[in-house]
Amino acid sequence: MRRKVIAGNWKMNMLPNEAIQMITELEPLVKDTNNEVVLCVPFTDLFYALNVAQGTNIKIGAQNMHFEEKGAFTGEVSGKMLKSIGTEYVIIGHSERRQYFAETDETVNKKIKAAFENELKPIVCVGETLEQREAGNAYDIITNQTEKALEGLTENQVENTIIAYEPIWAIGTGKTATNEDANEAIKKIREKICQIYGQNIANRVIIQYGGSMKPSNAKELLEMSDIDGGLIGGASLKAEDFAAIVNFDK
Ligand code: PGA
Repeated sequence: MRRKVIAGNWKMNMLPNEAIQMITELEPLVKDTNNEVVLCVPFTDLFYALNVAQGTNIKIGAQNMHFEEKGAFTGEVSGKMLKSIGTEYVIIGHSERRQYFAETDETVNKKIKAAFENELKPIVCVGETLEQREAGNAYDIITNQTEKALEGLTENQVENTIIAYEPIWAIGTGKTATNEDANEAIKKIREKICQIYGQNIANRVIIQYGGSMKPSNAKELLEMSDIDGGLIGGASLKAEDFAAIVNFDK
């Protein structure tokens, strides 16, 4: 059985004092869950978030990293730096980074490899635009993104990569994919992984859904056969909302 991984993506929100307050409120609400609880926070919150989450079941992640270890890359943060303060997860290739910051399949692939070299767990985002969906290309786009993201990884690394299927038209729009559509897209991603790496690995890879997941729709999405968790933006900013999603199975 694959474990459910419920990850928050705070994006460019939350000052350190707000981060500390949110995590302090969240801790008692999620302490009894069997699901993996992750919050991916801005760089400026990492140190504080890690401190306040220490000794709890809340794991902390970053939202991006550079693939080089160090050097003349002004404004960037490396996997080694993230690891050095105890960060456990890192989101890679979020559609906002692909769209606004020129992230490509190639940089995504390099970043995943660098994440593993630094013992960080990557949450890799794939997803189609509305245009691509309407043109009937959604499955090609997402299986292609997945294949390129995983290229050159060891089987063990593939198995430990978390994939987040996030249809771009559903992010921050209030529009959610239907349970069936989300599950179907995730099945296609799993089939692709099966074709390349075999059934055993495909069965183990955790594939989340992301895009306007909230307390009111989380349960039905997370109970689908192939949806192994959520990557949650807006609804991860409030402890109560995020906890309701984490506790969807209570
Ligand atoms: P949303 O964002 O939940 O606000 O739609 C999800 C994401 O971008 O990861």
